[in-house]
Amino acid sequence: MEYITDKIIFPNKILLDCMVIPIFETYKLSKITENINQISNNYILNILKENNIKGKINQNITLYNIPNILCKKILIVGCGIKDELNRYKNKLVIHNTINILKKFFLKEIYWYLTDVKINNLNLYWNIRDTIDTIEHDTYQFKKFKKNKNFFKAKIKFIINNTNKNIYHVAIKHSKAINLGIKKAKDLANLPPNICTPKFLSKKAKKLTTKYKNISVKIFDKKDLKQIGMNAYLAVSKGSKNKPFMSIIEYHNNDSQPIVLLGKGITFDSGGLSLKPSTNMSEMKYDMCGAAAVYGTICTIAELQLPINIIAILAGCENMPGNNAYRPGDIIKTLSGTTVEITNTDAEGRLVLCDILTYIKKYNPKYVIDIATLTGACVIALGNNISGLMSNNKILSNKIIKASLETNDRVWELPIDDIDYINQLKSNFANLINSSSSNSAGAITAACFLSKFTNKYNWAHIDIAGTAWYYINNKAIASGRPINMLSQFLINQI
Ligand code: BES
Ligand code: MN
Ligand code: ZN
Repeated sequence: MEYITDKIIFPNKILLDCMVIPIFETYKLSKITENINQISNNYILNILKENNIKGKINQNITLYNIPNILCKKILIVGCGIKDELNRYKNKLVIHNTINILKKFFLKEIYWYLTDVKINNLNLYWNIRDTIDTIEHDTYQFKKFKKNKNFFKAKIKFIINNTNKNIYHVAIKHSKAINLGIKKAKDLANLPPNICTPKFLSKKAKKLTTKYKNISVKIFDKKDLKQIGMNAYLAVSKGSKNKPFMSIIEYHNNDSQPIVLLGKGITFDSGGLSLKPSTNMSEMKYDMCGAAAVYGTICTIAELQLPINIIAILAGCENMPGNNAYRPGDIIKTLSGTTVEITNTDAEGRLVLCDILTYIKKYNPKYVIDIATLTGACVIALGNNISGLMSNNKILSNKIIKASLETNDRVWELPIDDIDYINQLKSNFANLINSSSSNSAGAITAACFLSKFTNKYNWAHIDIAGTAWYYINNKAIASGRPINMLSQFLINQI
């Protein structure tokens, strides 16, 4: 979709394709709706009453040939009780609107729904929510379909001198964020036979051709071996698809960098601790952390934010095979800490721990890793809220703030209790990679990572429940938490 602004137009003087205008219960007309009602000699109100469209959410009507109005179609959308419209209900309103608009073949839509006042939401966030919701509702992944038709239109917002700056900034931010989200979704939805660790690294490398202030270094198996990333390499051993780590540097001033690290397991079979076959295909999404980091860097580069980011894609595949790492193996990580493998399906933390050690050299201001790390996080928080775990209150509060602003929600879980750490004790090595108790699995995974992050301010976001969702019972990538991460970075300046 394209989003543009326009000056006030007169629907009785200019021929328009389509207008979307709001009404409230009971028969309360908004300013534009009142205006059209007057020009049309009460036609609007009469039709609404005849059809018993009072203005409830879910009620709507499309009108044609309105007296004295040149606009071809006017979609009147119910927004419920005026004083009760909140962020959640507003999303429903937009959702209903898009479902109707999808059926028409429209080029231009004059969108008046951002004129309504929403409780506890200012105009800037109203516009951001609107664009997010439209983009979310119209996303399709048609790379492997014969029919590649998309619903694509120009959405026009009407501005005046007092609100035009708000519109311009909100649209600029939303465009960049939703571009990042779309790129991440398109990457994550690819099948695992195409989206391999090598493919991820190629996507990273391609960023350098589009953005002058991005440079990318790719580390292959040999490079990882040379650094000493034995935990990362152990996970890759069962697969023919070799591991590739991509370090994307976005440089736009001289401040301390923020490191974003994404788990990029392009397929997680579980390895020798093989997963059951039910829903195993969803484990192509085990690279959604890397996809989110990739999408976020696209957003930041579009906005050219004056910050420094080190974005890392930890590409790897977890497969069984005659050379696969085994339960019982003991591995010496890059930090020197030894790990006894108790479950080859707890592979994400192994790939991440070596990189968390490696990035100390950047002297980072903050480090945030994003990972589909544990099924336990889905049990704890469900499919709409990501897990947040951190060793620094200032950082976690900033993440929570960005998550509330964007409604890309996170919930903080504690990691500082000694009981959690005790679950990771090994008889033979410094740590085990997977606790035998099945309590607090999201937290013990984060505690494992925390053993490698004591040199800097770090937060871990477990997106196992939020990285994808279901349409008709079938999985599709969500692009989360790019909205939150981008906002966190916008808030840095
Ligand atoms: N990628 C999975 C976590 C996952 C599971 C994400 C379901 C999304 C949905 C991760 O590598 C994994 O297998 N974790 C294990 C850890 C366990 C062995 C300690 C899990 O959650 O079962
Ligand atoms: Mn696993
Ligand atoms: Zn995994």
